[in-house]
Amino acid sequence: MPADYTPATIADVRRLRDALEQEGKKLVFTNGCFDLLHAGHVRYLEQARALGDAMVVALNSDQSVRVLKGPDRPLNHQNDRAEVLAALRAVDAVVVFDDERATTLIESIRPHVYAKGGDYTVDSLNREERIALENAGTEIRILPLVPGRSTTSTINKMLGGNDTCTGSLRIAVLGSGEGSNLRAIIAALQSGALNAEIALTLSDQADSNFLKIARASGLPAQFVDGGSNPRRLSDAAQKEIFEHLERARVDVVVLAGFMRILKEPVISAYAGRIVNVHPSLLPNHKGANAPQLSIDAGDRETGCTVHLVTAEIDAGRILAQAKVAVLPGDTAETLHARIKIEEHKLLPQVLNEWRERGLPVRGAVTS
Ligand code: GRF
Repeated sequence: MPADYTPATIADVRRLRDALEQEGKKLVFTNGCFDLLHAGHVRYLEQARALGDAMVVALNSDQSVRVLKGPDRPLNHQNDRAEVLAALRAVDAVVVFDDERATTLIESIRPHVYAKGGDYTVDSLNREERIALENAGTEIRILPLVPGRSTTSTINKMLGGNDTCTGSLRIAVLGSGEGSNLRAIIAALQSGALNAEIALTLSDQADSNFLKIARASGLPAQFVDGGSNPRRLSDAAQKEIFEHLERARVDVVVLAGFMRILKEPVISAYAGRIVNVHPSLLPNHKGANAPQLSIDAGDRETGCTVHLVTAEIDAGRILAQAKVAVLPGDTAETLHARIKIEEHKLLPQVLNEWRERGLPVRGAVTS
């Protein structure tokens, strides 16, 4: 039987780096656990490799994976993970490291480019790692996430076969209007880009397209009479919505064009678990008619924001944003239509990350 694969040493990688530099070429460095390799990893690594002329992957040792991911991981031994990674076209060398952070490796390898997956921003990188990168003169590049693919979701599928067995994210979607975001969430569920379950849809508009889409898709759909004020919900309606959410055992409440203001008891009971999608780059243009406000302000760029909902309108923590250019001659309608195209990608992506990793931590802007 052939012997176990032997990963590269730091000295090997430094030689590689120095040889590249002599030829005016660049070494790319990235790091991670790479436990069960999937297409998301492969695409990420291909993109990272394209930033330079060779790439080294720093692989978390078994001991550090246990610290980062819990006692049941990794599934594969470090030398096996290294062997699989090293067989990829994009990977030139693999080193195994024992710390949770790659700081010491960065200091000794001094790579030309450091690549990291898109759930980070430059600001959210670990402070010590960032300082080490700055001291080494390393260029930092954040690459977009490949949605819907992760080791965790693969493991969940293998364990349960279906999501209810593995505690999938149970979503409630609340809307008042057209329902295009609801449609986008349904499409993401159907394509497998989002691994979750819509446990409830709810609207304050009995004849809304939102409810028609929900019913046509066979989803549990509720109308709640909010009362006479179009922006407010009566106390009875606030309570009724809370009861629907509780009965449906909802994990996350998604406001997708829900035009009335949610208050107690929902706001406290679901604190940190309510998200809203808003058609501007918050904190700019809070409230209604954001696309028109953006045109009136002469903005050259606007976009959409997915953020946590708090008692203060459009002011909760920003989870993700996407930019959209304001074009000459744009009306509120044409601009809003282009913003929605971005919303339809961003919202399912945030929900999927939530399911896989818990509450998203980025304030990243994608364009
Ligand atoms: C979206 O633009 C969202 O940002 C805003 O309301 C709109 C809802 O659109 N909060 P739809 O009903 O999902 O088509």
